[in-house]
Amino acid sequence: MGYRYIGSKDKLSDIIISEIHRINNNTETVIDLMAGTGLLSLALRENNFKVVANDVMTYSYHHLHLHLLLSKAPDFNKISSIVKNQNLDNKKSNYTLILDYLNNVKPIKGYFFNEFSPEGNPINATKPRKYYTAENAAKIDAIRKEIKSLKKRNLITDIEHSLLLHDLIMASNDIANIAGTYGHYLSKFVKRAESPMLLYQSKFSNLGQTEGHQVFKGYAEEIAPKLVGDICYIDPPYIKRQYAANYHILETLAREDEPEAIGESGLRPWRDQYSNFCSKVKIRDSFDKIITSINCQDFLISYSEDGLIPISDLILFLSNYGTVSKKNIEYKRFKSNNSKKESTLNEYLIHLKKD
Ligand SMILES: C[S@@+](CC[C@H](N)C(=O)[O-])C[C@H]1O[C@@H](n2cnc3c(N)ncnc32)[C@H](O)[C@@H]1O
Repeated sequence: MGYRYIGSKDKLSDIIISEIHRINNNTETVIDLMAGTGLLSLALRENNFKVVANDVMTYSYHHLHLHLLLSKAPDFNKISSIVKNQNLDNKKSNYTLILDYLNNVKPIKGYFFNEFSPEGNPINATKPRKYYTAENAAKIDAIRKEIKSLKKRNLITDIEHSLLLHDLIMASNDIANIAGTYGHYLSKFVKRAESPMLLYQSKFSNLGQTEGHQVFKGYAEEIAPKLVGDICYIDPPYIKRQYAANYHILETLAREDEPEAIGESGLRPWRDQYSNFCSKVKIRDSFDKIITSINCQDFLISYSEDGLIPISDLILFLSNYGTVSKKNIEYKRFKSNNSKKESTLNEYLIHLKKD
């Protein structure tokens, strides 16, 4: 199913790519500085660009490994030490075998069961939470434990580890009892959330540029001085809602930890991934750090009419660094199930050519 991610540019990739060609037809390397789902990075790679991608969130780092660094399933060449001989089916790929193996591990009543299921006993809440059914939460606990142990015992490589965590994130997201983000869970289980959780195979793309991509994880403001590219695409958060808070459970899956789950929603402590782009006061300073320190002359910036700062103010501010132009795109609004807002909004693609 994939997941609904606030601000995902999956559906805008054609327009963004044609803007990149328009700005500089000789572009070789594109920096995707806040890459989120990594789906735009994938489209860039498939369109023959070299991609340097980054995000502050750990789940994004795992998605980017699949989308940029893999063009076929990894070997999983220690499979015979993982799967018992009698279950080794020669006709199946090692990747299929490991997913079958993980799908069949015995459920455990662990952290996810206790903190995020109705049969749990959360440490910091007055009543159990309902992000997952008890069966699915216990399955997630068991699969997390097994992936962590495979890595610790060196039975999987770093990229195999990233792929399995990506697969776990996608499968857990499919059966999460939420309206769109993990800001809160739904009071009644929806049908989708009651289906059994199942890891399924990721698709691998071998289109376009398969070599030479780079993946980073960290604050754009800090990573920018290390990056070199022909065009830097920046897709910052444009509202106050922090990604780290809205996708806290995906981050916990990606980090393989068991943080304190706070309050009714069970948020992990997320201040270490706080984004300045969600603050009217700090956003300009962050743009300044990026634009002045990165080794790149052209910037393409996505912003929205719903943005924290009005588009005219943003353009005025960016004009301090060079020549600015803007393209309008009418776009379908991200709507959580109970939102009554208009269903279209204006997205902007701002081009800054640095002096
Ligand atoms: C609008 S989303 C990007 C969506 C992405 N283009 C896609 O198609 O999935 C904004 C992203 O910026 C990331 N982010 C926010 N502040 C950041 C920062 N200071 N440095 C790096 N990433 C940041 C968030 O984690 C989030 O994934």
